[in-house]
Amino acid sequence: MADLSVNFYQNKERVQNHYQNLSQNYDDLWTHSADFMQFLSKNVSVYLDLKSTDIFLDLGCGTGLFAKEISNLIKFENPLVCADISADMLTQLSDSRKYECVVMDAIAFSALPRSFDKILVKEMIHHLEQEQQKCLIKNLFDRLNINGQFLLILLPQKIEYPLFEAALLRHQKLQPDYKLLAAEFERVGFQTEVNFVPYPLSISKTKYLRMVENRYMSLLSSFSDREIEAGIKEIEHKYCDREILDFNDTFVFILGKKCG
Ligand SMILES: C[S@@+](CC[C@H](N)C(=O)[O-])C[C@H]1O[C@@H](n2cnc3c(N)ncnc32)[C@H](O)[C@@H]1O
Repeated sequence: MADLSVNFYQNKERVQNHYQNLSQNYDDLWTHSADFMQFLSKNVSVYLDLKSTDIFLDLGCGTGLFAKEISNLIKFENPLVCADISADMLTQLSDSRKYECVVMDAIAFSALPRSFDKILVKEMIHHLEQEQQKCLIKNLFDRLNINGQFLLILLPQKIEYPLFEAALLRHQKLQPDYKLLAAEFERVGFQTEVNFVPYPLSISKTKYLRMVENRYMSLLSSFSDREIEAGIKEIEHKYCDREILDFNDTFVFILGKKCG
């Protein structure tokens, strides 16, 4: 039988449908806790050495939930530029004085003759094909001012999420290899470092099962209703003795510096 998951992430129409369906629930499904949001946003601002004078781009920003949190930490003097292919996701960011919202594909946006001091791309690169990933990294190198920095955040191929087995395997197969991306950073001229940033999550099983049912990860949109139902049963069975699911959410931080 054909594997329908192949290229699922990179099918623009499917990806747009996925985020369109999820846009109203996205923050609820992904925020986890105020502490989690602050932890990640603080890490982004430290790794990128964000300053109030920076021209900052969050590309593939989704609903802008991290952009909002980061702008609470850093009082940017210029509007924070938020770009995403999904208009439904972006409509959650309404303050036009603080944010410049652009509905556009990441590659097209990265080719525009604009310049930035700091760029964040968080959990979006898996939606691009390998050649597009390379093109994006090169374009963003060109978009950065000298001494500018680009932080790419993605999940590793092996994740600890309490998902059903088929989902974990499919994630492993479809997720880009961070080592290849880091090599591409080096190739285009970035001074590059890779770090792993773990966050210990504790989620009630009831909430986690609801997240899976809502297909909180785009990966889960590549499974049929019946497969999701079976997956939920598998998770319930595997964790039948637990009310709370504890696991590490580990992020790969690839930081590129454009030196003068
Ligand atoms: C998993 S969400 C991450 C959102 C946000 N960065 C975060 O961490 O919460 C992926 C986002 O990438 C956007 N996206 C997918 N493909 C894209 C593309 N080709 N160009 C721009 N944005 C894209 C989706 O619309 C979605 O908002």
